[in-house]
Amino acid sequence: MFNKEVYTKRRNKLRKEVKSGIALFLGNVDAAFNYPANVYSFRQDSHFLYFFGLQNPGFAGIIDFDNNKDYIFGNDFDIDDVIWMGVQPKVADLAAKGGVENAAPYNELAKFIAKAKKEGRQIHYLPPYRGETVIELSALLGLYNADIKPGASVELIKGVVALKEIKSDKEVAEIEKAVDIAYEMHTTSMRMAMPGRVEQEIAGTIEGISLALGGPVSFPIILSQDGQTLHNHHHDKVLKVGRMMVTDAGAETQENYTSDITRTVPVGGKFNDRQAEIYQIVLDANMAAIEAIKPGLKYREVHFLAARTIIEGLKKAGLMKGDTDAALKAEAHTLFMPHGLGHMMGMDVHDMEGLGENYVGYDENTTRATTFGTAYLRLGKELKTGFVLTVEPGIYFIPDLIDQFRNEGKFMDFVNYDKVETYKDFGGIRIEDDILVTDDGYRVLGKPIPKTIAEVEAVMSNPL
Ligand code: GLY
Ligand code: MN
Ligand code: MN
Repeated sequence: MFNKEVYTKRRNKLRKEVKSGIALFLGNVDAAFNYPANVYSFRQDSHFLYFFGLQNPGFAGIIDFDNNKDYIFGNDFDIDDVIWMGVQPKVADLAAKGGVENAAPYNELAKFIAKAKKEGRQIHYLPPYRGETVIELSALLGLYNADIKPGASVELIKGVVALKEIKSDKEVAEIEKAVDIAYEMHTTSMRMAMPGRVEQEIAGTIEGISLALGGPVSFPIILSQDGQTLHNHHHDKVLKVGRMMVTDAGAETQENYTSDITRTVPVGGKFNDRQAEIYQIVLDANMAAIEAIKPGLKYREVHFLAARTIIEGLKKAGLMKGDTDAALKAEAHTLFMPHGLGHMMGMDVHDMEGLGENYVGYDENTTRATTFGTAYLRLGKELKTGFVLTVEPGIYFIPDLIDQFRNEGKFMDFVNYDKVETYKDFGGIRIEDDILVTDDGYRVLGKPIPKTIAEVEAVMSNPL
């Protein structure tokens, strides 16, 4: 946990964003895995963590905007807990570590909320994403479960986004630690991507690296020689020369800051000509996009710059044709990259996505597209110094999508379908890095993870 001034400062900043009432932050509770006492490893709610810093299950925090007070509600451990878990600090001492002077047993929370309701004060809360939280909010607020999400406070959401989207130096340092763990995960994955190996062996090994060096993985690992399936969590294939293996994986630090990195490598360690040609296009798109990043530019523009690079590269490879501007306008690249260029990153790997992507990635000046592919762009708005985001272009040959678009006669002026047919056995390529927006441009976070063809082949020449 950071020192208490960090949390006090964050709560005080929120006081400038939300005018009155109270904000209720429910921390997470333990979630049962297959019976009540066998629980998933605990992950605290990122917003509770951001404002209070405490990793304990079953705690709640309140920021009182009217009276300038903060509260922690949680239960002290009894002797039974001590027998199984060892001596634990008192709730009041934990609260003090987050700079909170007022601590009370958890059952006082219901009384506090009831009183606030009676006084007609607004009770702000964020949209919950776990069933237990919905039920608890419903009990505390006297609302039906179905009314909980729609009742979340837009004022609080906007205030939280305004604070959390700008990362402090301490937060950036944590994210860089997470990228450095990802360096170990990805270079290991590269060195293990040899024919005959089952994907699961690699996925399990790199998940272990995350756990050994920091915390859990920041999202379920995507690792597959079938990279044309964008989020492929099946790891049951035996690797074969001629396939490209996508590894999209990141780690959490002890402070729960994340990384999100993708690398794609040729099974066996040597790119063939076809692989090298397509790989270089994705790499060019990744680098052109990164180099364009600066405050004041809309991320949507960066997305379309990457798309332009992909169209131009695919034209050279004979897979696309026609006028680049017209192809871009028609969004013909979405046959090959049917996803957005990137998203915000922080304590959540898709940072704050649970608050509503449009509150995080868009604003009154930038509206989300509704067209195929581009609608998946999670971040479109103007960049500011302190944003941390991903740049993750890709090219995928998705047989069903190729068939569908061809049958529909879509993009006939821009796609050489006869040649594209011959790539249906190719798979997919994605290259993803984590970037900080700085006053004068950008910084690629963490220890550079090999990504040029020469760098990848050099790492893979030393297989594990
Ligand atoms: N890890 C999922 C993504 O790249 O967004
Ligand atoms: Mn990723
Ligand atoms: Mn990502």
